[in-house]
Amino acid sequence: WGVQGHRVVAKIAENHLSKKAKDQITLLLGSERFPLTASWADEVRNSPEFEGTGPWHFINTPLGLPFDQYVGVVKELKDPNAYIALTQNLKDLKDPGKTKEQKLVALKFVVHIVGDVHQPMHVSRAEDKGGNAIQVKYQGKDTNLHSLWDSGLLDYEGMTYSELAVLLDKPTPLQVQQWQKDDITKWLWESYSISQQLYAETEKSATFDYKYVPAHLPTVEDRLLQAGIRLAGVLNAVFG
Ligand code: ADE
Ligand code: ZN
Ligand code: ZN
Repeated sequence: WGVQGHRVVAKIAENHLSKKAKDQITLLLGSERFPLTASWADEVRNSPEFEGTGPWHFINTPLGLPFDQYVGVVKELKDPNAYIALTQNLKDLKDPGKTKEQKLVALKFVVHIVGDVHQPMHVSRAEDKGGNAIQVKYQGKDTNLHSLWDSGLLDYEGMTYSELAVLLDKPTPLQVQQWQKDDITKWLWESYSISQQLYAETEKSATFDYKYVPAHLPTVEDRLLQAGIRLAGVLNAVFG
């Protein structure tokens, strides 16, 4: 996602944190505001200190796999990817042997990666770099499939991240319960299934008209909400 999407996810998560989790996160963050830390991982991905973290933002596999096979493939991947990075950073966050500074870094990666794995085009195919290499026309302008899903569709709403969080944060208690029970491979599978549909659609025509927004903005909004709820779930689990 772009900056806006990541902030929406963190803002929604903040609304669903336990008292314990909120207190410990405040302790780690100091004067930093939680939603404003959500896109930090994108800012540092090209810095020497965080060299090699670029692949932490996405996970690519062949398309067309059924669920069980997909999960098998994901778990076998050895090169750095979002699944490995999320699992490792969650572990670091729980590890009593890590310093406060290390935990703050782990927290910021967790917040960011939970967001990114809910962006369908971040759980996709390597050949076209998750749609970055697929040129599309959207409302007369040249863009690419990845960028459209990172920010193009959400920008169309013309709202601040706080406004979007208020608008979207209306899950039913049953949805919260269900979403927080799902494990990370299920989140990935959902994104993977959506990105396959988007690839198939784009193959038919890469010129999108005004109908693309009402057809797909609800999916963007669902994914941001699910990411926020699930982020709160993992953080509540980490911080007891
Ligand atoms: N680079 C290569 N694959 C990518 C993906 N799925 N998302 C973002 N950047 C990428
Ligand atoms: Zn992206
Ligand atoms: Zn990212």
